[in-house]
Amino acid sequence: MSSKGKKFETQAIRTQMERSQNLEHSSPIYMTSSFVFEDAEDMRASFAEEKQRNIYSRYSNPNSNELIEKVCKMEGAENGFAYASGMAAVFSTLAALLDAGDHVISSKSIFGSTHTLFTQFFPKWNIETSYFDANDLSQIEGLIQSNTKILYAETPTNPGVDVLDLEMLAKIAKKHDLIFIIDNCFATPYLQQPIKFGADLVIHSGTKLMDGQGRVLAGITVGSGDLMDKVYRFSRITGPALSPFNAWVLSRSLETLAIRVDRHCENALKLATYLEGHDKVEWVKYPFLKSHPKHEIAKKQMKAGGCVVAFEVKGGLEAGREFFDSIRLLSLSANLGDARSIVTHPASTTHSKLTTEERNAVGISDGMVRVSVGLEHIDDIIADIEQALG
Ligand SMILES: Cc1ncc(COP(=O)(O)O)c(C=O)c1O
Repeated sequence: MSSKGKKFETQAIRTQMERSQNLEHSSPIYMTSSFVFEDAEDMRASFAEEKQRNIYSRYSNPNSNELIEKVCKMEGAENGFAYASGMAAVFSTLAALLDAGDHVISSKSIFGSTHTLFTQFFPKWNIETSYFDANDLSQIEGLIQSNTKILYAETPTNPGVDVLDLEMLAKIAKKHDLIFIIDNCFATPYLQQPIKFGADLVIHSGTKLMDGQGRVLAGITVGSGDLMDKVYRFSRITGPALSPFNAWVLSRSLETLAIRVDRHCENALKLATYLEGHDKVEWVKYPFLKSHPKHEIAKKQMKAGGCVVAFEVKGGLEAGREFFDSIRLLSLSANLGDARSIVTHPASTTHSKLTTEERNAVGISDGMVRVSVGLEHIDDIIADIEQALG
């Protein structure tokens, strides 16, 4: 029976490639770089795109096809392409749609490598980017130029956990005929489906909550058929395709996405609530805390608050560093969305080369800590943070 029209969890499990002659229950892995043709006519028709079939795994493969179909159903998208990493998805999507001389408007609060792409690499092709403050969407219209083509954002943001109003962004994009792209990696399609609010394309780093166990690098872009056709044509030529093995891993991971993300969110909200009452904590930011400045918007567009909690340790840089050094159970790592909880102190690590002023400009204060709340028992997560704060 087809999973069409079924609930999210059912589609995540029951969207599966056709069974082979072995009638396997779980999908097999097609570790093959190419596929064979019946005869000359079959090969001609396949290359002429008169037939939809797998030709070469740089173009498509049964494992990536299964993954794409699943994510399309989850996001309400028409088509997609699966990539070797989240950044391969970001770069290929943007590069496929932008021409020399185009202009992009992006939120300031985006993943560091995407920021570097906009500031250091796209200018080589005469593509410039203007930035708006993630907390002030009224700046966007003032940045629009006659050559603006794309409006780009992430929500919730990293590491500040700010929330941007998707409906409002979509309205602005529509009014000015811009392609609206959202990196939905922090929320996953289980918590938030940007296409419902008017996004044209949705990008994910599958490396985060989608895999959820820190095993594979992966990325995916899904969205409207027209735009994805352009993205597909660029991507199949330039070669950033996801490996069949990683596609298989990720498709299996998505079978448990809902149940995992539910627990991540439950743990994260408990940790955020605990931290809010702690006398060594200056502030806590989590979309589903009532104190979050965009709590109402978060509730409108998200099912729950996600796995990331940000908070400020009283005492600035030194106190933040001391807290970070005192962590015993949780991992000190740059990743997020893993079953293992992860702590980062951006000011003394990833952003230590910046001055306090430069860090503040990108929303990173000196004592700010980001916790990617995992699936360990919440009592143990809180106990480690409590002893580190003490
Ligand atoms: C929001 C966001 N987008 C994209 C990426 C890039 O993903 P990947 O590391 O899979 O290339 C990351 C990675 O941390 C991210 O957090």
